[in-house]
Amino acid sequence: MITFQHSHIKSVSDTDVAAFDSRIAAVDSLIRNKNGRGNDFLGWIDLPVNYDREEFARIKAAAQKIRRDSDILLVIGIGGSYLGARAVIEFLHGAYYNQQRKNTPDIYFIGNSFNGEELKDVLELCEGKDVSVNVISKSGTTTESAIAFRIVREYMAKRYSEEEMNARIYATTDCARGALKGLADQNGYQTFVIPDDVGGRFSVLTPVGLLPIACTGIDIDALMEGAAKEREALFAAGLSNDAYRYAILRNIYLERGRKVEVLASYDPAFRYMGEWFKQLFGESEGKDKKGLFPASVVYSSDLHSLGQFVQDGSPILFETVCMRSTPEERDMNVPYEEANADGLNFLAGNSLYKINKKAMLGTLLAHEQGGTETLLVKYDRKDARTLGELIYFFEMACAASGYLLEVNPFDQPGVEAYKKNMFALLGKPGYEEQKSALEEQIKNI
Ligand code: PA5
Repeated sequence: MITFQHSHIKSVSDTDVAAFDSRIAAVDSLIRNKNGRGNDFLGWIDLPVNYDREEFARIKAAAQKIRRDSDILLVIGIGGSYLGARAVIEFLHGAYYNQQRKNTPDIYFIGNSFNGEELKDVLELCEGKDVSVNVISKSGTTTESAIAFRIVREYMAKRYSEEEMNARIYATTDCARGALKGLADQNGYQTFVIPDDVGGRFSVLTPVGLLPIACTGIDIDALMEGAAKEREALFAAGLSNDAYRYAILRNIYLERGRKVEVLASYDPAFRYMGEWFKQLFGESEGKDKKGLFPASVVYSSDLHSLGQFVQDGSPILFETVCMRSTPEERDMNVPYEEANADGLNFLAGNSLYKINKKAMLGTLLAHEQGGTETLLVKYDRKDARTLGELIYFFEMACAASGYLLEVNPFDQPGVEAYKKNMFALLGKPGYEEQKSALEEQIKNI
């Protein structure tokens, strides 16, 4: 179960929240009636209860085959085409999943940068191992992923016969459009479809996320059930539901000049959930010169770096802490030591969970004193079901928050600007005119 908690927040009163009553009612109507901006991308709302069962079964079968015949799965994708899968896998398995003894393949996420060194390193790790590839791109044309896929195809062709190579490549893409769909049809790759009405950053519960997640042995039925449970709970709670409440609080802080939301966790395995969150909210709200800048930290590590700023720096932040409300299953205790040279015997017998929780509470109080308030999202279990709830909660909060801001939460026109310049500078056919003008501008850089 997950809960959103803000009753301890001193600066925001019930009256402040109630001032949003009519706006949140309007937002609720846009979400329920699917008639707001970007309404052709609202497929994520009903996805947990209305997904393609036949394709879901194919995902499980493909995952089983990959587990049987592969030591390594290469997941090629960028942005929404990898962050959700990586977030779920790292949160539930931990950051050392690849190093652990297990009967599921190691996973490497590639094609999310232009870095040749990293790609070379990963391909070297593939030597002597059996490899499968899941290439993921909704547009089927994203340059980072397309280049990595070309390099990986060249590598796979050296390792396997054409038939074997094609049987080891799984393409997750649009049902009809894009270069990747063309390649898949031409070579007979098994394909999975990204629904037309689900955008990249909302796609973790489609084959985009589900195939890599299932390959690691995570129960994808439970993930969907959790999301379905949260969907039901949010709709049943109506206008006062937790996701809307969180969206309202975010907008109150923004209106008060708190322009940065820091998503904090006290669990290192949450790091990529933070990356997923940043894309979800950053791409959904950061437009028309509006929006909160989403940042993420992992405490207590980052208390020793960014903690100073959060406590005492420019008053531009508020924090949202995601924390587990129950002890970890595989915890450790501080041992007792007769000599007590490090002075730690006052903690002997305490679990690290307990110490972590006190660190969290101490930090909350200190940050509040420094002027930075903390919203809380609590989860009671670290499992696929609860994570499904958490994912759906953030998706709904993001849609509501974006609509409160009066932006279209489901487009991302801003990401095209760098691509146009990059294509022109690289001499892509069709961009000839811009090339010399851009080169003139950067001649001293
Ligand atoms: O959320 C989004 O739409 C983007 O982040 C995309 O997921 C990202 O750009 C990758 O696009 P594609 O799946 O078309 O390769």
